[in-house]
Amino acid sequence: MKRLIAVLFVAACSETPDPNGQDLFSAYCVMCHGSAGRGDGKLAGDLDIPPADLSLLADRNGGVFPRDLVMETVYGYPGKFQKAAMPEFGPLLSGPTRVLRSQSGALIETPQALIALTDYVESLQQR
Ligand code: HEC
Repeated sequence: MKRLIAVLFVAACSETPDPNGQDLFSAYCVMCHGSAGRGDGKLAGDLDIPPADLSLLADRNGGVFPRDLVMETVYGYPGKFQKAAMPEFGPLLSGPTRVLRSQSGALIETPQALIALTDYVESLQQR
């Protein structure tokens, strides 16, 4: 019986589709940051602080895409305060996790959805 339950559990888990970064970005980010991440979403004009241009993140960081910054900003890792004008998406990005080595070298259990979303933001970089 235990074995059957284990098999069912594995089957249920593997049916979960891999989180799609572009879909997540469209659902949670486009309204402020715009579809190409340039900070020109529909709500941008209504905010006191303009949404950052996410297509220049690497450019502004000496050519290196700042993965940790993106993840921390979106998820709000413990110990980091959220940016004033941007909501935290921690609860929306719950679900299966994977252990990831951060740029600072730490191994952090990270939601797969957050990884997919961050990869998508990386793909928006202009240079
Ligand atoms: C309600 C509008 C809004 C939504 C929705 C939003 N953001 Fe933001 N975001 C902002 C604003 C405004 C800033 C600038 C905050 C500041 O300068 O304090 C920002 C800043 C950022 C930064 C930091 C950039 C930097 O140079 O420090 C990142 C990364 C980011 N957003 C990614 C995302 C992602 C990914 C999503 C979707 C999960 C998202 N944002 C959803 C408004 C939003």
